[in-house]
Amino acid sequence: MAKAPMRVAVTGAAGQIGYSLLFRIANGDVLGKDQPVILQLLEIPDEKAQKALQGVMMELEDCAFPLLVGMTAHSDPMTAFKDIDIAFLVGARPRGPGMERKDLLAANAQIFTAQGKALNAVAKRTVKVLVVGNPANTNAYIAMKSAPDLPAKNFTAMLRLDHNRALSQLAAKMGKPVGDIEKLVVWGNHSPTMYPDHRFATVGGESVKALINDPVWNKEVHIPTVGKRGAAIIEARGLSSAASAANAAIDHMHDWVLGTNGKWVTMGVPSNGEYGIPKDVIYGFPVTCENGEYKIVEGLEIDEFSRERMDHTLNELLEEQAGVKHLLS
Ligand code: NAD
Ligand code: LMR
Repeated sequence: MAKAPMRVAVTGAAGQIGYSLLFRIANGDVLGKDQPVILQLLEIPDEKAQKALQGVMMELEDCAFPLLVGMTAHSDPMTAFKDIDIAFLVGARPRGPGMERKDLLAANAQIFTAQGKALNAVAKRTVKVLVVGNPANTNAYIAMKSAPDLPAKNFTAMLRLDHNRALSQLAAKMGKPVGDIEKLVVWGNHSPTMYPDHRFATVGGESVKALINDPVWNKEVHIPTVGKRGAAIIEARGLSSAASAANAAIDHMHDWVLGTNGKWVTMGVPSNGEYGIPKDVIYGFPVTCENGEYKIVEGLEIDEFSRERMDHTLNELLEEQAGVKHLLS
């Protein structure tokens, strides 16, 4: 018997990432090739954005995806999030000319407060939320705090692009297949302060750290390259990463829903105090996923260098939180 459809909301659906993401959701890349989906697409009320969204929906129609059994356009999160199982919160206010970080935080705080409240009111109690729009960790924190009736663990932020970037850098350095690398983690904030940590990583069962054996490369090349990759793409493309960001969003949600078979992936999730990260801070942790739940990998040894990096990215997150505190009732 065919499975009941799952309702998937995507915000910023007419944007760059949306254009790479929607077709792959409809094709079964996220929830499985036997899982029908209904897309509930949110854009700002602006006429141009809504018209662009109609165009994307026409293209989705033209793909005749067998798994796409319904699709609606929205300008209000209260209707877009009705009864949803999955939310990709992609739409966010981009940084404009002369805009300070605190202005960006405030503009996005408004968006994610409203969307958190709407999720609280109308989404399924089991909804899985992935925040992609930047600043992703703090936006996820705001949405989570604005949805007190939903479990905090339902709210996650995207660190998977950073994880995938770090995997590719390591594979290139070692000349090994990227798919053979396991047990990598990117700690912290999706920002240049993130800490890609390959101390536990293996490739074909061998230690990645031992194979590379180059702490100077790690500190001076690898960590900054991964941290600044988003800016490097903007510099090269004139636009922020979109297909790779959509791909990472798909990886994140696919693994959360369908499991990782014991493999580690990085997700930004609310802390319960693991590794000394204060409760509720949405922080990149190593996780495994099984039966639709993620579990933070615990008990890893944190050396002095790692502690310093982990605290640095934590401090940035705490500053971001302090910057929006007055906006959260
Ligand atoms: P984009 O500007 O092409 O598209 C964003 C879309 O969101 C626009 O169509 C806009 O109208 C819409 N939007 C804005 N506010 C909205 C709201 N309140 N409700 C619904 N829709 C809204 O941008 P993009 O390239 O698709 O990127 C989207 C976001 O993802 C940006 O914040 C970007 O910085 C972020 N991003 C995050 C990562 C990550 O790894 N976490 C990676 C790449 C990009
Ligand atoms: C990325 O990591 O590619 C993006 O978060 C960059 C950005 O600022 O949009």
